[in-house]
Amino acid sequence: MNVLGIESSCDETSVAIISDDKLTSNLISSQDFHSKYGGVVPELSSRAHLQIIIPLVKDALTKSNLELSDIDLICATAGPGLIGALLVGLTFAKGLAFSLNKTFLAVNHIEGHIFSGFLMEEKPEFPFLALVVSGGHTLLLLVNDFMDIKKLGSTVDDAAGEAFDKVSKMLGLGYPGGPKIQSHAQNGNADKINFPIADLKNSFNFSFSGLKTSVLRHIQKNYQGTNIPLSDVNDIAASFQMAVVKALIRNAEKALSEYDVNSICLAGGVAANKALRNAVITLGEKFNKKVIIPAMEYCGDNAAMIAYRGQKLFENDVTSTLNVSPFPGLSADIFS
Ligand SMILES: Nc1ncnc2c1ncn2[C@@H]1O[C@H](COP(=O)(O)OP(=O)(O)OP(=O)(O)O)[C@@H](O)[C@H]1O
Ligand SMILES: [Mg+2]
Repeated sequence: MNVLGIESSCDETSVAIISDDKLTSNLISSQDFHSKYGGVVPELSSRAHLQIIIPLVKDALTKSNLELSDIDLICATAGPGLIGALLVGLTFAKGLAFSLNKTFLAVNHIEGHIFSGFLMEEKPEFPFLALVVSGGHTLLLLVNDFMDIKKLGSTVDDAAGEAFDKVSKMLGLGYPGGPKIQSHAQNGNADKINFPIADLKNSFNFSFSGLKTSVLRHIQKNYQGTNIPLSDVNDIAASFQMAVVKALIRNAEKALSEYDVNSICLAGGVAANKALRNAVITLGEKFNKKVIIPAMEYCGDNAAMIAYRGQKLFENDVTSTLNVSPFPGLSADIFS
């Protein structure tokens, strides 16, 4: 069985092929030009997806040594994401499926992230605790099997990745913020500033907007519009990063005390963060659980996770019609 996956929810166009359960290509074209605008410009994103999607599909087929006619199942991200960007990949996939008379499946991008650990050699074992930390979402989930996902908690305001991006902007480090904060944090003292961590009692929910505001207040109070010395930028980045990691780990730890799981899976763009990866490994050791963290190419947006999720939906008799519309919000019926 040959599965073609297409991802275009934000600023990465990606095409992947899974051939007889083996990933044979996962091409990712990142729209780096957004950095000069300080964030993703939706219209420019849609246009860039349009320009690259056909060559990317051709390259993926060549890399996998396949013809278009060899593809059995075509999967594309339907949401959440930027509506114009989603429309490009989704409409292209539907058109391709219609013209080739192949099965089409719409995939939820966040479900793609949740199961991205299965792209690794060592697979998660059900039930597992999933911590999905991305640019638009922060979710703690109990995943009982491919079709049974329970949401334990989510952010009540900003997503963790969004907080990284906003704090990076405050420090003048640019977009995307996560990698920049991480590299400055490496040279900083994480104990220097005691940023607050929200504790939403009796829930597994997260909040990052108070933390973000407290970084802003710290900068306003101490530097009053003047340049922040590099060593202070490093200390702020390190202290902020530690606060985010502590907030994420605290809720994951609470969930592990309440739910008996076999594995812990970290996923989403922020899963690329070294401090977070190390903290999740330590958490796994503490609770004696198997920890699965995707390789870097499966943390950020990628079509491998979309093809994988699409194939699992297909195997579980889920069908999509060509009438399916893109959805910008989470809108995940499957999360009970
Ligand atoms: N090393 C890192 N440390 C922290 N954050 C990071 C790192 N690398 C990337 N990020 C963050 O990951 C986010 C992007 O992740 P991803 O591409 O999964 O998000 P998205 O697709 O925009 O959102 P969603 O998946 O919720 O729709 C950005 O906010 C970026 O700053
Ligand atoms: Mg994503």
